[in-house]
Amino acid sequence: MRIVYVFGTRPNFVKTAPVIAALRERLPDARHAIVHTGQHYDRAMSEVFFEELGVPAPDHMLEVGSGSHAVQTARTMERLEPVLEAERPDLVIVPGDVNSTLAAVLTATKMQIPVAHIESGLRSFDRTMPEEVNRIVADEFSEHLFLHSDEAVENLRAEGIAEERMHFVGNTMIDTLVALEGRFRGAGAAAGLGLEPGAYALVTLHRPALVDGELLPETMRRLGELAAAMPVVFPVHPRTRQRMEGASAEHPGLLLSEPLGYVEFLSLLADAGAVLTDSGGIQEETTYLGVPCFTLRDNTERPVTIRAGTNTLLGLDPAAIAAIPQALSAPRPARTEPPPLWDGRAAERIADVLT
Ligand code: UD1
Repeated sequence: MRIVYVFGTRPNFVKTAPVIAALRERLPDARHAIVHTGQHYDRAMSEVFFEELGVPAPDHMLEVGSGSHAVQTARTMERLEPVLEAERPDLVIVPGDVNSTLAAVLTATKMQIPVAHIESGLRSFDRTMPEEVNRIVADEFSEHLFLHSDEAVENLRAEGIAEERMHFVGNTMIDTLVALEGRFRGAGAAAGLGLEPGAYALVTLHRPALVDGELLPETMRRLGELAAAMPVVFPVHPRTRQRMEGASAEHPGLLLSEPLGYVEFLSLLADAGAVLTDSGGIQEETTYLGVPCFTLRDNTERPVTIRAGTNTLLGLDPAAIAAIPQALSAPRPARTEPPPLWDGRAAERIADVLT
């Protein structure tokens, strides 16, 4: 048995780590080859995650780096094909919805290698989002679809995907969170920044719709206003950092930092009074942790986080940030259980299916 895992961005290290661990344990004699596409390459966006999550060093580094969508996807395909020719895997495993995912699915499919897709079936129904296009292609061509929520099952049924390809296994990102709980609960990242647990807002923003256009300066201004009500901590994604410099804005009152390691980030997340984000994974992590999350987007492919009562869709208008302090002081529904199968054992179920 020969398995190749292909990934290359920060959130997908988190989603794939438990699957690699579970399959290595279950199939110790199989070949498990890791391909890092290099879509993310800064130490803080990549290496730190391999270290903290205990992911073995990659067997192949494609070093595709940044570029337009076509360049990034094409470069990944071109460099992955010879690796798959050499590895001759029985299965390629890919997570998520990024350009590395799209490229890996297309390359393997054209080589007639079966693909397993982790975090399948999510839909924002917004095809202007690059990730939506990637999701649709990945699900159409992957043989084994691993789903983390009821709505993913419904979405795939509506697209006519055969039931036998779908496996509702739960959320592998939550597997990693559960595995790290002992470490991040004791990390005290808030205290390290002089912040009181429960009394600050944690912000992450990186989507093109928000940071690539006109909305970023207004968003920064609104964050400055929020900082008058509560301290605002904002670890800045490299894409956002670039645009902010373009806007040459001053940001008094905001605690801006470089991207953080995962244990430190989860510590800040677990102790935050509120989270403002446009990330998909953070909507899920706050749902598991029971932390109020405000999502600065018009839609979400993760409505399960809204039904859970932790996530509020603010819309893409930065003016909505002004509503956060009041929303926090209003009575909120009691914390519900995490969604079904978000229990730390999703990767075990994936291993059950595949073995
Ligand atoms: C990508 C994914 C997005 C995911 C996000 C997680 C796609 C289409 N988008 O967005 O779905 O939520 O990763 O973080 O695949 N850069 C660096 N150093 C790095 C990586 C990026 O400086 O290590 C800068 C580069 O200027 C680059 C820009 O960030 O051009 C954007 O990186 P890119 O990989 O194109 O997309 P992300 O915005 O990270």
